[in-house]
Amino acid sequence: MPQTVTLAPDQTSEAARLLAGGALVAIPTETVYGLAADALNDRAVAEIFAAKDRPSFNPLILHVPDLDSAERLAVFDDTARSLAEAFWPGPLTLVLPLRPEAGIAPLVTAGLDSVALRVPAHPLAQEVLHALGRPVAAPSANPSGRISPTTVAHVQAGLGGRVAAILDGGPCGVGLESTIVGCVEAPTLLRPGGIAAEQIEAVLDAPLASHSGEISAPGQMISHYAPRRAVRLGVTKAAPGEAHLGFGAVPGDLSLSASGDLTEAAATLFQRLHQLDALDQPIAVAPVPEQGLGRAINDRLRRAAAPRGR
Ligand code: TXA
Ligand code: MG
Repeated sequence: MPQTVTLAPDQTSEAARLLAGGALVAIPTETVYGLAADALNDRAVAEIFAAKDRPSFNPLILHVPDLDSAERLAVFDDTARSLAEAFWPGPLTLVLPLRPEAGIAPLVTAGLDSVALRVPAHPLAQEVLHALGRPVAAPSANPSGRISPTTVAHVQAGLGGRVAAILDGGPCGVGLESTIVGCVEAPTLLRPGGIAAEQIEAVLDAPLASHSGEISAPGQMISHYAPRRAVRLGVTKAAPGEAHLGFGAVPGDLSLSASGDLTEAAATLFQRLHQLDALDQPIAVAPVPEQGLGRAINDRLRRAAAPRGR
């Protein structure tokens, strides 16, 4: 990757052009800088995990310019709509049922049937979203396990050389990630953030349920989204009756990436698991190297292979 360029605040159309071409661009939001990719581009979304060096595929937040765009991607009930109307644009993220026809890259939701959505208030984020005309997937623009960035210098220090560009929007006003509220069942506080829970409860006129366990629990649950039949890993030669998922030199019946490209493998992983599940045969998976995106791919494959039935 060539050097990361810094784009001036009046270069939002260049940021959108890079995103449309499948590149990663760090963009300012009112909370923290986000590491943005076109959410409809499987490969670009896979590059987010590579750039952050994330060891697992946690679901990402989708950024859209307004409530109308959000309603095209997810199903809002009255409660969700009242929260969106009260706090958008702003530092509130809603987790809602995904509309499958939305065409979002499965890596964005880590294969879940819910999606996290927010409408950022930052004027430059708004300009980029309008210019691109597509939803943007964006986790915080820091390497995995490091502190979220609130200035261009933070992003440059953490991800310089790993993203095409950083759009300079100055320091982030809120400086803390968005508050995440799950609206799939009873409104639930999934992550405290830029909007106080009390403000949200005032709009709901009811207490928020609290979330027990890890924020990323749905994506992290052992055997979540496991195929129905048994899965064996590290298999170079499948047994009779097994459907074989190949990688690189191991061709298999289907391949994660015939050329052994880990970015392509990440981008196709969830589609391949769904395709194999539909065959209703035991599944054997070729070895995937435990390096770069291979770590997150293997993390997901180990969950798919974990014993079932709890
Ligand atoms: O302020 C923010 O929210 C920033 C800026 C860039 O918008 N973004 C951000 O994204 O903090 P990220 O990827 O670092 O955090 C996403 C969080 C994760 O903890 C993830 O588990 C949760 O959102 N999440 C995403 N989709 C979810 C889903 N379908 N169900 C439950 N949690 C979800
Ligand atoms: Mg983060």
